[in-house]
Amino acid sequence: MTAQTGYPNHPKIAIYPGSFDPITFGHLDIIRRAIMLFDQVIVAVARNREKRPLFSEQERMEMIKNCVTDLPGVEVDCFHGLLVDYARKKGATAMIRGLRAVSDFEYEFQMALVNRKISEDLITVFLMTHDKYSYLNSSIVKELVSLGADVGCFVPAYVKERLYDKLRKK
Ligand code: COA
Repeated sequence: MTAQTGYPNHPKIAIYPGSFDPITFGHLDIIRRAIMLFDQVIVAVARNREKRPLFSEQERMEMIKNCVTDLPGVEVDCFHGLLVDYARKKGATAMIRGLRAVSDFEYEFQMALVNRKISEDLITVFLMTHDKYSYLNSSIVKELVSLGADVGCFVPAYVKERLYDKLRKK
């Protein structure tokens, strides 16, 4: 095992991967907590073949960047391929995942175990989402916007504007 947390002066780097289509207050809550534990948190926008995202990778990254300007130590990036390979390239020793409800657990547990099997260097760290965001996901926000609801309590103002531009001007 070559986990870099063993070196005293090595910065502790964590990856927070996800689709972020778009980022919500739930994700931001996790990022804020993660940066209290690590020197650097890389929010990594993933290309997920099973999902057809509303926003391009560049747009998703741009929205995240706009939301984390007050959080030193948070970097925004995107990746393709295996997460463990990307984490190794970045020198990260941990992957952050948010747990919202018991229903998340089975999928997250499977993903953590598979990642551990293919790379023992990457430790999965689960953070509990604040209960006020425990029911939230990006699909619900998109559906609400397309049906004319105000999503100001779920996403930052900048993201809300981008959603309205995309979904209401169609
Ligand atoms: N607050 C609000 N919503 C949250 C949330 C939180 N704290 N945490 C997760 N969500 C929502 C997301 O918005 C997303 O909603 P959507 O389905 O409506 O878009 C949903 O939960 C799924 O979360 P996400 O974090 O985007 O996971 P994912 O399943 O899309 O992606 C990856 C998971 C990217 C980490 C995974 O697919 C991966 O590692 N891919 C790389 C390839 C690889 O290595 N595969 C092997 C893995 S075992």
